Amino acid sequence: MLRIKKLTVHYGPLRALKEISLEVKRGEVVALIGPNRAGKTTLLCTISGILETTEGRVFFQEEDITNLNPHKIVSRGIGHVPQGRHIFPTLSVLDNLMMGAYITRKSKGEIQGNLEWIYELFPILKERKEQRAGTLSGGEQQMLAIGRALMGGPKLLLLDEPSMGLAPRFTEEIFAAFKEMNRRGLTLFIVEQEIHLSLAISHRGYLLRNGRLIKGGPSSSLIESHEVKALCLGEDMSKYLVQRSGI
Ligand SMILES: Nc1ncnc2c1ncn2[C@@H]1O[C@H](COP(=O)(O)OP(=O)(O)OP(=O)(O)O)[C@@H](O)[C@H]1O
Ligand SMILES: [Mg+2]
Repeated sequence: MLRIKKLTVHYGPLRALKEISLEVKRGEVVALIGPNRAGKTTLLCTISGILETTEGRVFFQEEDITNLNPHKIVSRGIGHVPQGRHIFPTLSVLDNLMMGAYITRKSKGEIQGNLEWIYELFPILKERKEQRAGTLSGGEQQMLAIGRALMGGPKLLLLDEPSMGLAPRFTEEIFAAFKEMNRRGLTLFIVEQEIHLSLAISHRGYLLRNGRLIKGGPSSSLIESHEVKALCLGEDMSKYLVQRSGI
């Protein structure tokens, strides 16, 4: 469904990604893991057209979508839930959701159908639909950001650190919704700092470090690799140090 070939991306002189090649098949959940500054966000933003490639190609459903405008990429069927959510805090929950539909010019019937599905996945959004989005909790804002992307009717959803800063019960609820979304036919490409969680939910995974893909394979074997074990250890160490220093 998504095929990336030898993708290289720069920020000015800084090379953030070097010759990345990977694929996501229809119906899969694929995880992208890697330490801070590995280039994970850069990769998702390049797929969705927010950033330009220096070299390499991105194919979606066999069509070359390299460097197309972001709104054209959304219309092709790629939704992007950005790191940090970026909801519109002064707009209502419903208006935030409608922003996701507006960009792809859906019919009234499609919009209504998508809304109902999103309210089924995240009932709290229905309860709070008239409320200003800025008053929602972090977990609810993440649900809203996911809902907004779903309003565009994507076939492939890119998710950037969906569990970041969330209480465990929200993380569980959101990951349960991912399973349901996948069961209903949506393909997912998830960047996630919670490595065990992301490899538990995904079929396959890739490990990115310093802008290079250093490993890829079935999630069950990836979790056993020494590179991934080392990454988990690093994450645990940094959590432990943060706890100890009381930040
Ligand atoms: N707007 C920017 N301008 C210049 N350099 C950038 C910009 N955004 C990211 N970078 C650099 O590109 C590299 C990759 O960053 P990126 O945000 O893609 O990593 P990441 O894996 O998503 O990290 P994190 O886990 O912290 O979210 C880093 O060295 C980062 O400092
Ligand atoms: Mg990032």
